[in-house]
Amino acid sequence: MKTETTIQGLAASLNPARAARKIIGFVPTMGNLHEGHLNLVREARKLCDIVVVSIFVNPIQFGPNEDFDNYPRTLEQDQRLLADVGCDIVFAPTVEQMYGSKPRLTNISVSDITNDLCGLQRPGHFDGVAVVVTKLFNIVQPNYAFFGQKDYQQLAVIRQFVRDLNIPLEVIGVPITRAEDGLALSSRNGYLSAENRAAAPAIYKTLKAAEQALLSGDALPKVLEDMKSALTGAGFVVDYVEARTTELQKIEQFNEDLVLFVAAKLGATRLIDNLQVKYTAS
Ligand code: PAJ
Repeated sequence: MKTETTIQGLAASLNPARAARKIIGFVPTMGNLHEGHLNLVREARKLCDIVVVSIFVNPIQFGPNEDFDNYPRTLEQDQRLLADVGCDIVFAPTVEQMYGSKPRLTNISVSDITNDLCGLQRPGHFDGVAVVVTKLFNIVQPNYAFFGQKDYQQLAVIRQFVRDLNIPLEVIGVPITRAEDGLALSSRNGYLSAENRAAAPAIYKTLKAAEQALLSGDALPKVLEDMKSALTGAGFVVDYVEARTTELQKIEQFNEDLVLFVAAKLGATRLIDNLQVKYTAS
């Protein structure tokens, strides 16, 4: 496995593979890798000849009061984990390498589906994601790019601009990897105190209970209210509890497949999770 830190170096490493028409798979990350990230790499390994993983903590997707400076940076550990799952090339550029020193005057902004859920609490966040992912797509030029359903809205935003801008690659969504107690794996779980880590699986339990309630015929608004109460009772400060169609449109009642979304804080740590609930007409 090679690590490249410059765009030129990465091009030099990838050009022989491109010339040989090898299938290139790409997994963008911000590092501090866990099994969730590694499962994306395993999926890429199944479909592709060459697997590239980027590790870049992207400053422009963090708000002024978010954790950019403190975001965990663990490159050596990440390199060991990636070598073990068969990654071929790690791309770990500096901020200077990605953004240069001249001002950036171009933005990529996806409307409508970024207006609520995480878009409300994190203004500019999805523009920052769209810009860096587009830059990375142009740098790596993969055939397939892999993203987790953990960040469902992010995945929808990426699918949208890839389609709107005819970016020539296929986006693959990968299911959420969870700890044994149900907590969705996240680099931010490391911020949780022992006490909060013990409380955190309540998010998934609440999602599963809501799924059961919907399948047994409870009305959607009541189910969402019950989720909020359950989370507040378990010590969370709820950011949002929402239901959307799989395309992120508003939904008032459970009459098609839907996705339940939770964002909630335990102490200073904001956790997100979601669960797709399948509709079967009775
Ligand atoms: P990061 O949070 O490092 O996540 C990288 C990828 O791993 C994303 O596609 C995310 O959805 C996926 N992922 C994280 N936890 C997961 C889990 N428990 N199960 C399945 N997939 C999981 O998302 C980002 O970085 C950045 O916004 C990025 C796309 C790299 C742009 O900067």
